[in-house]
Amino acid sequence: MIVDYNAEPLVQVKDLCKYFQVGRHATLKAVDGVSFNIYRGETVGLVGESGCGKSTAGRCLIRLYEPTSGQVLYDGKDITKLSRQEKKEFCHKVQMIFQNPYASLNPRMTVKEIVGEGLKLQGKSNEEIEAKVEQLLKTVGLNKDHMSRFPHEFSGGQRQRIGIARALSVDPEFIICDEPISALDVSIQAQVLNMLNELQDNLGLTYLFIAHDLSVVKYLSERVIVMYLGTVVETATSEELYSNPMHPYTKALLSSIPEADPDKAQANRRIPIKGEISSPINPKNCCRFASRCEFATERCFNEMPAAREITPGHVVACHLMDDVK
Ligand SMILES: Nc1ncnc2c1ncn2[C@@H]1O[C@H](COP(=O)(O)OP(=O)(O)O)[C@@H](O)[C@H]1O
Ligand SMILES: [Mg+2]
Repeated sequence: MIVDYNAEPLVQVKDLCKYFQVGRHATLKAVDGVSFNIYRGETVGLVGESGCGKSTAGRCLIRLYEPTSGQVLYDGKDITKLSRQEKKEFCHKVQMIFQNPYASLNPRMTVKEIVGEGLKLQGKSNEEIEAKVEQLLKTVGLNKDHMSRFPHEFSGGQRQRIGIARALSVDPEFIICDEPISALDVSIQAQVLNMLNELQDNLGLTYLFIAHDLSVVKYLSERVIVMYLGTVVETATSEELYSNPMHPYTKALLSSIPEADPDKAQANRRIPIKGEISSPINPKNCCRFASRCEFATERCFNEMPAAREITPGHVVACHLMDDVK
């Protein structure tokens, strides 16, 4: 799909913070000052280790979570300041596909009820719902005989297809795919990915595609955002990020992708990330990656690096970049 980067972004995230109070003196900063844009028709990959705040950020974008501070604009409008009518529309335009297709479907509801729930809320008649559910099931590679069955009768891949049909039922524009294939068998991951790709082309969808490693995102995304412990460390087009990663964390993440070509594998030194991901509870106001970074200087432990655009569209938050330009 052709993306117009001069148009107003469909989604604008501005200095988003989501903190959880986890004790009397303990604040867990799940998302801490995150900013990015998503343009219409794009797939943006959001990548980082488990626990770095990807799902929390995604949840703030669809109003499942109230941000602690910062702003999310959808189609130019602050999503916390919508009129009743606008709120209703927003709930349809923006959908989420969840990581765990076992937990995200109500076990007591039939496929028809699950996929048709949004349509029912829209006031559609039973016949309309039945026809639309049938068509949706076809779109995701299931058939109408599946309508009266329950989630437990399906495999993981099929359940994820049901989740996708549910998301599509209300004709969304923007879908947050939160690790949609990571709970699935490797053998069916590609099928689901291909389906999401085709749906995007056919329906003109915009995706925020969340993943914990870069290998999946590489093939899908126009641009990639790399998160580390509540913060964005690097943003670039996929091509640029893979050919010229700048943040030490991105480099380490990339080097952990297995390389099929042995010559390239030799050339790409595997960069181990030392230590464990640190705690997001009461984090120090410094580079969150410093304790694991082999290049960290004293400054990295004392000062939060600002995001800087090193080349057009390639933004990095790292003190080491000060020498680059
Ligand atoms: N509702 C919540 N209450 C308290 N802590 C939470 C809540 N949701 C997420 N967290 C914490 O926020 C951090 C980020 O979580 P999450 O957004 O799920 O990360 P990711 O999706 O990148 O794995 C984690 O430390 C997690 O334990
Ligand atoms: Mg998650």
